[in-house]
Amino acid sequence: MTPGHGQLKAPALTRVADHDWATEVLAAFEPGAAGAPVPSERALTSATDWLRRGVPVVMPTETVYGLAAPALDRDAVTAVFAIKQRPLDNPLIAHVAGLEQLPELGIRLSSLAAQLAEAFWPGPLTLVLPTRSQMPWVTAGLDSIAVRQPQHEFARALIQRVGPLAAPSANRSGLPSPTRASHALQDLNGLVPLIVDAGELEHGVESTVLDVRGTVPVLLRPGALSTEAIEAVCGCAVLLPQAGGAARSPGMKYRHYSPRAQLWLYPPLAGNARAARQLAADAHELRARGRRVAAIVREPVPEVERIIPLPAEARQVARALFHWLRELDDQGIDCVLIEGVPAIGVGRAIMDRLERAATHIRRVETTVASLEGP
Ligand code: TXA
Ligand code: MG
Repeated sequence: MTPGHGQLKAPALTRVADHDWATEVLAAFEPGAAGAPVPSERALTSATDWLRRGVPVVMPTETVYGLAAPALDRDAVTAVFAIKQRPLDNPLIAHVAGLEQLPELGIRLSSLAAQLAEAFWPGPLTLVLPTRSQMPWVTAGLDSIAVRQPQHEFARALIQRVGPLAAPSANRSGLPSPTRASHALQDLNGLVPLIVDAGELEHGVESTVLDVRGTVPVLLRPGALSTEAIEAVCGCAVLLPQAGGAARSPGMKYRHYSPRAQLWLYPPLAGNARAARQLAADAHELRARGRRVAAIVREPVPEVERIIPLPAEARQVARALFHWLRELDDQGIDCVLIEGVPAIGVGRAIMDRLERAATHIRRVETTVASLEGP
């Protein structure tokens, strides 16, 4: 199925997006005078040239790779939607190098926003704010705009040169976000002229998206920055959008992060013997039906073709999760059985992504077992 099928269609390919590029991959860093790595001049110059000509390129951030275009360049941003096959009603995040770039986007920080920006920028926090600017190609026609200041050295240097960049994750719409340059290449080879490679990225899950238009923050997307950290700074509880209510963030209504394989999600297995038995029984049955089965679990389970050990540390899970899903797809695995993590800290973002990607969710309590479909 085409991503976005049945919803607003992605735009017809523009001339830029239609081009068949010989995609070049350049290293983001080179050794600096003092020995420590600095952003590569070659990669910066190349990315700057393409962006100034209105051609989107892939850049690293501290969360996931982004498909960047100058925020003020309508045609370049429109090409981003076409390249990703992204539904037109799903707005982009504008990335700035510092607070001084906010007026270019028609943004003024509320006091709550200023407090959070002061505490967490540069970093993996996206703030949704009112905007008076006329950039419907970024905001999808909303009267709000999402903005963040990334921490990644290369992204910062690039935005400093080119100005604010609109950038969604650099994957084909609906697939897991790219946390390595090879993932972006897999999805966008020939569709962009340049991918800037900074290796495996620090967080591996996207930024936390927070609506700060009111007096209390509302969580639109859990991400790399924990709600606990946000609450500690603003001194109030972060609100969660009503379950089943209108999606506050347009992107949340789309199916996301989905590998080709079926994804079966279980509760954390430690201390939940029923869940562990359920996973083993599912593995057995899927194998008996001829499926190729992998498990991502803390303790080994029998009868699966491949086991990826689940690290105890949630940050390590976040970093590697999208890579595991892509890798298992590449190996032709049909069913991935994965054990969940506690939904605290970055674990909340991990569970959000897993629940969105899952084809089957086994909610095995200690007494009752039930199976939900997608
Ligand atoms: O870490 C990240 O946030 C990465 C890197 C590249 O910065 N970017 C990213 O962008 O994940 P994207 O486009 O994949 O996700 C942006 C999310 C979507 O769910 C979108 O609907 C939401 O932010 N969003 C953007 N503008 C919004 C707005 N004005 N109001 C509510 N939600 C908005
Ligand atoms: Mg995305």
